[in-house]
Amino acid sequence: MNVLLTGGTGFVGKQVILGLLRTGHTVFSIIRNTRKGDKLLASIPTEHRGRFHIIEGDISLEDVGLSQDAIMTLKQNQIDAVYHMAAYLSFDPKDKDKTFHINVTGTKYLLELTKKISAKRFFHVSTAYTLGTEVYAKEELHSLDRSFVNFYEESKCQAEHLVFSYADQFDVSIFRPSIIMGDSKTGEADTSFALYGIIKSLKLLKRRMERSKQTYDQPFKLLCNKETHQNFVPVDFVSEVLIAGLKYAKKDQIYHLTTNNPPSNEALYMLVKEALGIQSLVLVPTTYDGELTSEEKLINEPLRIFHPYWERTIVFDNTNTQHLCKEAGIPPLNTDIDMLQRIISKSE
Ligand SMILES: NC(=O)c1ccc[n+]([C@@H]2O[C@H](COP(=O)([O-])OP(=O)(O)OC[C@H]3O[C@@H](n4cnc5c(N)ncnc54)[C@H](OP(=O)(O)O)[C@@H]3O)[C@@H](O)[C@H]2O)c1
Repeated sequence: MNVLLTGGTGFVGKQVILGLLRTGHTVFSIIRNTRKGDKLLASIPTEHRGRFHIIEGDISLEDVGLSQDAIMTLKQNQIDAVYHMAAYLSFDPKDKDKTFHINVTGTKYLLELTKKISAKRFFHVSTAYTLGTEVYAKEELHSLDRSFVNFYEESKCQAEHLVFSYADQFDVSIFRPSIIMGDSKTGEADTSFALYGIIKSLKLLKRRMERSKQTYDQPFKLLCNKETHQNFVPVDFVSEVLIAGLKYAKKDQIYHLTTNNPPSNEALYMLVKEALGIQSLVLVPTTYDGELTSEEKLINEPLRIFHPYWERTIVFDNTNTQHLCKEAGIPPLNTDIDMLQRIISKSE
């Protein structure tokens, strides 16, 4: 099939491209940064490069920044499916305008382009966290009238509504991954988002601790509730399901790409502690209002944006995804401790 996609230079997009090419599809990848495009091209096995085409574009611009000639070329190539994975992933309220512009207006521009090139299907990659501050989510469109943890969630929820408003133009399906981790077999993860941003901060802490023996011996408080569970999915599972979507996804359906055995924060941070060798790390509740050292404040302050996630366990119904996986022969996802350890130990 001929596939057009956005976000190909990103963590998930690259895996989807490699998987699509491996399974014989032709990929047209909208990329805004030519340097990153060259790097991506270099990572593609030579025997597949003939089916990989880079199209310079930017989803924040009308027509996705494509010339009329480029639009015509796409139309002539009869695109079977569009995967929309490009997004701006920031939880920082200062990034509000950019977040809405790229994630909502950018999606609108891509939907319009999809219409212009008469593509048949639109696969939108959203997030499981469009549920906002709730604790249970079905594979249904969530109302916009709800409270969200941040503008990222809100922008992704608005984009989902936009996508469904085009359901009379072409077939639409939405895929909602939870927090994406590295590859379940190799552990590799090319991202600094979410858990990987936290691990980066803890690595910094380790370096600082090594410079100051005194702090290294003291317990180091990380404000994170032990008992709640976080929903992590490996990137290879996400890309496998997305690719299987070409054959098995149903129109107007939403798919939660989530795990049914999410680890507790305690289990997860035990693995992080081991991988980074920071034995002094202790988890204390996010409501802790006792003394924190200046080092503890330095690490904990920027992580406050994650507290709304660490304070609740969310249950995601993933019946649609289970059906899709069964049809496609994808084994049920089991994010057990061995898998998590394999992934987290790679981040050392
Ligand atoms: N990572 C997660 O844990 C997670 C969880 C749930 C859902 N998701 C969703 O999964 C999708 C992929 O996430 P990811 O982790 O792969 O993100 P990522 O690594 O940050 O990649 C984002 C991609 O979007 C592209 N992009 C951003 N703005 C663009 C623009 N104006 N025009 C064209 N391309 C643009 C980026 O291009 P550049 O390389 O040029 O910046 C990059 O290729 C997103 O929709 C995200 O919301 C991710």
